[in-house]
Amino acid sequence: MPALLDVQHLTVELPTSRGWVRPVHDVSLRIAAGETLGLVGESGSGKTMLSLALMGLLPQGAKIRGEAWLNASASAASKNLVALRENDWRAVRGGEIGMVFQEPMTSLNPVMRVGKQVAEAIRAHDPHASRADLQRRTLKALRRASVPEPETRAEQFPHQLSGGLRQRVMISMALAAGPKLLIADEPTTALDVTVQKQVLALLAELRRAMQLGMLFITHDLGVVAQVADRVAVMYTGRVVEHGPVREVLTRPQHPYTKGLLAASPTLERGKFLPIPGIVPQLTDLPPGCAFAPRCPWRRVECDAAVPELRAVNADHSARCVLVGEAVQAGHEACR
Ligand SMILES: Nc1ncnc2c1ncn2[C@@H]1O[C@H](COP(=O)(O)OP(=O)(O)O)[C@@H](O)[C@H]1O
Ligand code: SF4
Ligand SMILES: [Mg+2]
Repeated sequence: MPALLDVQHLTVELPTSRGWVRPVHDVSLRIAAGETLGLVGESGSGKTMLSLALMGLLPQGAKIRGEAWLNASASAASKNLVALRENDWRAVRGGEIGMVFQEPMTSLNPVMRVGKQVAEAIRAHDPHASRADLQRRTLKALRRASVPEPETRAEQFPHQLSGGLRQRVMISMALAAGPKLLIADEPTTALDVTVQKQVLALLAELRRAMQLGMLFITHDLGVVAQVADRVAVMYTGRVVEHGPVREVLTRPQHPYTKGLLAASPTLERGKFLPIPGIVPQLTDLPPGCAFAPRCPWRRVECDAAVPELRAVNADHSARCVLVGEAVQAGHEACR
C-alpha cells in the first residue's frame, strides 16, 4: 500500500544536565492513507516526543536526525518533515497533519467561544474565506465531529462543555482544514469509559469517511485492539515490536509486549500482572537490551549489545534475541 507517512531512522536528541538523551531512537514506521498505526508503550517511552517531532514542535535545543516523508508516494507533494523550516510548518500543521492531545483544555483557548476557535483553525489555512463561508464551514466541522446542536455549542466557551464534547471540538478543529494525517496522542485517556467508546467510534467513522491516516498513541493495548490496523510498541525511545495488530496481540514476540498484555486490565481477563520494575532513565540505559533488567528471559547475550529488530515474518518484527527461537512456547511456560 502506498505510504502517506514514511519515517526512516528518526532520532531525537535532547540535552539534559547528565548529557544528551535519545527519547526517540532510530524509529522507522509507515502509515498508509486510511490506515491506523497504534503506538503503545508505558509512560516515558517516547511516544509524545515522536509525535512532537512529526509536528515540528520539539523542545528548544533538540536535535533531530533521519527522515519523515509526508505523502511519501506522491513525488510532487512529498516533503521531508525533518528538513522543514518554521515558515513551511505553518501550512503543514493543521493543513496536512492534524493533532489531538489528551487534554483538550490545554489546547483550547478558555476565553474564546469554541465556534470562533474552529473558524480560526480554518482561516489559518484559508485566509481569504468570507465570514459567511467560515461560519458555514465551522458548523460543518462541528457537525462532522458529532457535536450536538452545533449552532448553540459554537457560541459557548470550553468550560461550558463536558470533557467528551471538548474532545469533539478538538477533533473538529484538527480536521477543519482537511488534513490527510491525524496524530492523536492519548485522545481518550482523560475520558470515562462510555465517552471514550463514543470518541473512538467517531474517530473510526472519520477515518473511513475522510480516508485519514492515523497515528494513534495510547498506553492502553485494549484501545489499540479497537482502533488500529498495525501496532508499534515503544520502549525507551526504540520500537521493540511492530506488526499487524491482531498478530501482535495474539502472538507477541517481545517479552515487553507480552508484559504489557498481561498488565492490561481490558485485555487480560481474570488476572492482572503488572510488569515488575520500572522504565530506566534515558541517562542510565543498560548497554544491551533496555528491557533486560525487567525481563524473565534475560541471558548473557542480551547484555552484550542492543538487539536488532528481527523479522518474525514479512510484516512482523521484534527487537529480541529470542526471535526465531521457540519464544512462544517459552512465554506460555512462564506465565
Ligand atoms: N524537554 C525534555 N528534556 C529532556 N528529556 C525530556 C524532555 N521532555 C521529555 N523528556 C524525556 O523523554 C522521554 C520520553 O517522554 P515522552 O515522549 O513524553 O514519553 P511518553 O509520551 O511515551 O510518555 C522521557 O524519558 C522524558 O523524561
Ligand atoms: S533481548 Fe533478552 S533481555 Fe531483551 S527482551 Fe529479549 S530476552 Fe529479554
Ligand atoms: Mg505522552
